[in-house]
Amino acid sequence: MSAAARALCRRLDIALPLIQAPMAGVQGSALAIAVTEAGALGSLPCAMLTPAAIGAELQAIRCATQRPYNVNFFCHAAPAVDAAREARWRETLRPYYLEFGLDPAEVAPAPPRLPFDAATLETIAPFAPPVVSFHFGLPAGTLLARVKAWGATVLASATTLGEALWLERHGADVIIAQGLEAGGHRGMFLDSDISTQVGTFALVRSVVRAVRVPVIAAGGIADSAGIRAALTLGAAGVQVGTTYLLCPETTTSAVHRAALQSPAARHTALTNVFTGRPARAIVNRVMRECGPMSALAPAFPLAVGAIASLRAAAEARASDDFSPLWAGQDTSGCRAIPAAELTQELAADFAAPSA
Ligand SMILES: Cc1cc2nc3c(=O)[nH]c(=O)nc-3n(C[C@H](O)[C@H](O)[C@H](O)COP(=O)(O)O)c2cc1C
Repeated sequence: MSAAARALCRRLDIALPLIQAPMAGVQGSALAIAVTEAGALGSLPCAMLTPAAIGAELQAIRCATQRPYNVNFFCHAAPAVDAAREARWRETLRPYYLEFGLDPAEVAPAPPRLPFDAATLETIAPFAPPVVSFHFGLPAGTLLARVKAWGATVLASATTLGEALWLERHGADVIIAQGLEAGGHRGMFLDSDISTQVGTFALVRSVVRAVRVPVIAAGGIADSAGIRAALTLGAAGVQVGTTYLLCPETTTSAVHRAALQSPAARHTALTNVFTGRPARAIVNRVMRECGPMSALAPAFPLAVGAIASLRAAAEARASDDFSPLWAGQDTSGCRAIPAAELTQELAADFAAPSA
């Protein structure tokens, strides 16, 4: 293990320089607990949970493990509803509603995507989670100071060198360099132009040279060789998401699991049609026909509303045409094996030598 990786493990009190990426919508405490108990850092994504659900999940983690874990939040500003844009988007989707016999005006209930705020802070403070990570920037300085006050190490995603420098200046203790290969939402927050986004190798290299805090590589890491490569480039550790998506401890849907194991998984793209923000997913019908990037899609997270009922209707017919099939560019490591086993295989280079 490199000196940087050893220092990160000491700082986070983990045995392996590996973080299981928080993945909202496809996992809860079960995956976090399994990975944490295997010696890496398990993560609980909270962006789609109500405060009550966050409390219950934290309680479950605390009952199951004494080891450190990560809790993850989004930091977006909630947008105002733009009625004209919403109407244009619904008009775009209208033929699909009619195809499924749905009312185009219908608003299906969709899980919230809530930014970290004072109420969230009150919910998690009693648990004093040892690691807290943020996507889409950082919360207000007063909130961040309170998180740090209980001794939490703060991680945050950067997708460009500029974002990494900004995060270091504003108090992130560790930077997650999220390369363009990564599955799910781009953590981008200083710029909305997707041509600014950089691949993992180039990003990690430039960020490691420019910041003093430890850097975690994320995006396209699917096996132990990928982890070795990232550490060779100067990363102190890695964050792996897509590779865990088939583990039994996830809640990945049936259509999503099938897509990940099909040839379709070879073609992913950045799309905003599911939520309003660019995110990497396996290309499916709605991405092909309405995107993958659309100027008409409502701002994050408002775009979720219009597509929710189409998704439900299509999935009821076992179709993935309207589902967000989040995935990174490398799905070769996805296997339906227990997360602890996968973690040990990923981190095989760092396993303690057997007696
Ligand atoms: C299904 C899925 C959901 C994700 N949800 C989140 C999230 O809630 N919070 C977050 O910080 N990152 C999220 N990400 C991004 C990951 O943190 C990470 O950047 C990415 O998984 C790394 O690339 P990889 O998927 O190629 O391993 C998600 C990724 C995936 C695949």
